[in-house]
Amino acid sequence: MRRRPDPDELDRLDLLDPHLHATHDLTPIWRWLRANDPVHEHESFWSVTRHADVLRVVRAPATFTSLRGNMLRTLLRGHDPGAGRMLVVTDGPPHTRLRHLLTPGFGPRALGAVTDSIAVATRELLGTLVRRGGGDFVAEVAAQVPLRAICELLGVPEGDRQRVLRLTGEAMLGESPDSTTGTPLPARIAQSEILLYYTRLAAERRAAPGDDVISLLVGSDLTEEEVLLNCYNLIIGGDETARLAMAGGVLALATYGEQWERLRADPALIGPAAEEILRWTTPAAHVGRLATRDAELGGRRIAAGDVVALWTVSANRDETVFDEPDRFDVGRTPNRHLTFGHGPHFCLGAELARAELRALLAELRASVRAFEVTGPVTWLPSNFINGVAALPVALEPSNRP
Ligand code: HEM
Repeated sequence: MRRRPDPDELDRLDLLDPHLHATHDLTPIWRWLRANDPVHEHESFWSVTRHADVLRVVRAPATFTSLRGNMLRTLLRGHDPGAGRMLVVTDGPPHTRLRHLLTPGFGPRALGAVTDSIAVATRELLGTLVRRGGGDFVAEVAAQVPLRAICELLGVPEGDRQRVLRLTGEAMLGESPDSTTGTPLPARIAQSEILLYYTRLAAERRAAPGDDVISLLVGSDLTEEEVLLNCYNLIIGGDETARLAMAGGVLALATYGEQWERLRADPALIGPAAEEILRWTTPAAHVGRLATRDAELGGRRIAAGDVVALWTVSANRDETVFDEPDRFDVGRTPNRHLTFGHGPHFCLGAELARAELRALLAELRASVRAFEVTGPVTWLPSNFINGVAALPVALEPSNRP
């Protein structure tokens, strides 16, 4: 159970410290900041906590750029290795060009096929867990589905999937946004193997294009390195975030049993429940920007060169936008959450993530009657990635046909 600090402690809390987020539920701090100091100055950055101010910043990329990184770790380091070449850390015309290039890969036709296989994978993985009576929902379901979906989108051939999934899982262990000790050796080896794999796949697609995302990338004038960086963007952007939304959703439904009963009784709630899970879990706790010029925000003067952290985890509980924001409500509509960001960098994989969550909720309704958390829930130590590392659950099968 994470401790809820008192707002009096604010000056002593280091929001950059990854362990603070693993051991504390900062809801009271965000609430206090929204009410009293919505653009709060720290030693090395600003914390923006209101919904309206987050929107102001992400809608003004010329004043608040992504080119120096989009999270505190890279922004405070002063550079991002993908800057100007990888979609999420690109601005202006190069961003628009890349975005147009990738968009068809996430259109209704491409997603239709992926959605079908997500449903099959979810049924299979959840079915195994239910037959066993339970297990770690993160490892056995939530960690599997998003990576499979990304492989499919990228056009990784069926026969290579198991190996690619294993390597990607290992490589991602080195991508902790808060790692201070550098990337561990096994993760580095897996990262080079995966890069090699995608280099080969890109060469194959160049020779014989398909209708997958890699074919879209190699069919353009991007360099080989840019192709690889953008494949990587999709893997990093879509793996852990979607996993945490799924796991956090199951945790919320287990905690608020009456909301699970509502959802079980009414299939029309699958869509709104998926949105509420996205709001409630907010897997990317903040997005970051760098001010390119002096600007005013929430009555404070931001200077050119300042780093701003937009805490979506707080904006998603803004009482001026959400009625009873601290209530998990599977029927909440409208739900203007900022979980996928907003503006030019709005998440490219949002529809895919939504499809993954809806498939999970549909399968839970079909195969599970009740579930409960059976062991301690551990939160990830990160100021960026927000969610649970493991979720031991017991599942009672449904008697429904
Ligand atoms: C952008 C969150 C799933 C790929 C973003 C941004 C956020 C976000 C907050 C905006 C970043 C910024 O403004 O700097 C999430 C969450 C997800 C999720 C919470 C799951 C619940 C996915 C998936 C994919 C993906 C499944 C792809 C497979 C991307 C890409 C961008 C992006 C490529 C960059 C878009 C751009 O810069 O134009 N995501 N994402 N995301 N996301 Fe996601």
